[in-house]
Amino acid sequence: MRPMKTIVILISGRGSNMRAVIEAARQQQWADSIAAVISNRGDAPGLEFAREHGIAAEVVDSRAFATRDAFDAALQEAVDLHAPDLVVLAGFMRILTTAFVEHYAGRMLNIHPSLLPSFAGLATHRQALAAGVKLHGATVHFVTPQLDHGPIIAQAVVPVLEDDTEEILAQRVLEQEHRIYPLAVRWFLDGRLTLENSRVRIAAETPDTST
Ligand code: GAR
Repeated sequence: MRPMKTIVILISGRGSNMRAVIEAARQQQWADSIAAVISNRGDAPGLEFAREHGIAAEVVDSRAFATRDAFDAALQEAVDLHAPDLVVLAGFMRILTTAFVEHYAGRMLNIHPSLLPSFAGLATHRQALAAGVKLHGATVHFVTPQLDHGPIIAQAVVPVLEDDTEEILAQRVLEQEHRIYPLAVRWFLDGRLTLENSRVRIAAETPDTST
C-alpha cells in the first residue's frame, strides 16, 4: 500500500468544494487522509458536513485576532497539530501572510473560479461577463505569496453563453470545480505532481502493485 498522507482542509463558508473532496475521498478510499476541516468562521455551513462524516471540524475565528499576523500564526498552529502533508484551501476567503504561505510552500493548493491568470481576486464571474470572454472556468494551483498566481495544476473550461447571469455562470463553473479539485488532490497524494520552473508536471499514473 502507498504510505498514507495527511490533509487539512480550510474553509470559510458553504464548503461545496470541501464536500466534493470528502465525497471523492470516501468513494476512492482515502478518506482517512483527511485529518481535519478548519474554518475561520464558526458559522460556516461546511463544518456540519465534515462533522457528519466523522472528520474533526475546528474553528480559528479570524475576528478574534487583532492582526493578520496573529491570526495566521494561530491558524498555522492549529493546522500543524495535524502534521499535514497537504493543506487544501476550499473557499478559504482570507488573504494569507507570506510567512504562512511559505511555511506550506509546495504543499498547499487552492481552487479559484476563473481561468488564471485571468480574473484573479473576487467577483470572477462578474469580471468574466464584463470582459466579454467566451470561455471561462476554474483553476487549481499551488499557493504562492502572490495572490491567485501559483503554478497551475488543473483547469476546466466552460462556455459563457449569451444570456448568462453571474449566478448561472458561477453554477456552471462550480460543477467543474467539484470535478477537478478532488482530481488534483488525488494527484498530489499519489506523488504525481512535480514543479519545474513554476510549471507543474503531472506524472503518469503508476499501478499500485504492493497490495
Ligand atoms: C468557490 O467557487 C471557490 O472557487 C471560490 O469560492 C467558492 C467557495 O465555494 N474561491 C475563491 O474565490 C478563492 N479566491 P465553496 O465554499 O462552496 O467551496
